[in-house]
Amino acid sequence: MVATEDESAVSNLLAAYEGELNAHARYKAFAVKAEAEGMNGAASLFRAAARAEQIHASNHARVLRRMGGEATAEIRPFRVKSTLENLKTALGGEQHEIDKLYPQFLIQASSQLDTAAARSFVWAMEAEKTHARLYEDAVVAMEAGPGWTQEQLEFHVCTLCGYTAKNQEADNCPACNFVWDRFERIR
Ligand SMILES: [Fe+2]
Ligand SMILES: [Fe+2]
Repeated sequence: MVATEDESAVSNLLAAYEGELNAHARYKAFAVKAEAEGMNGAASLFRAAARAEQIHASNHARVLRRMGGEATAEIRPFRVKSTLENLKTALGGEQHEIDKLYPQFLIQASSQLDTAAARSFVWAMEAEKTHARLYEDAVVAMEAGPGWTQEQLEFHVCTLCGYTAKNQEADNCPACNFVWDRFERIR
């Protein structure tokens, strides 16, 4: 019999897992649209963020299975609009996860001393902050005219926590301390 605290951890992990997989699906579609619009830098950013969301999903799924849960998710329908609108949608989604979703899950996980779940949530939340910053920069760049959003770019994605950056920032990941040499380069 699963204890009540475990049940809430499992349902939060499941919700987070589903959210990350849906974000992954949206960003992949947004990348295709950006490429079609000649916004290759934005396409690179969507691909990098999509990879990070996939890493979050598998981290959540690992903890979920360890707690006896099953990782299943439904991909909800979404609309692909212009790249500028897609960037704004993506930014809004990240902001929601940073301000509401993960902080709420973290409070519950910490009160249960559920360290594996808490770590998975913290890593995702820290990476979402990097996505929010990058999306915000992209929106500003696009609204200002032809900017970095047009040229294909290389992003660095931490394969452990999904931290995403335009350039190497340190020897180790600022969020999870993983060695930067093991980051994935996504274009
Ligand atoms: Fe994200
Ligand atoms: Fe990391």
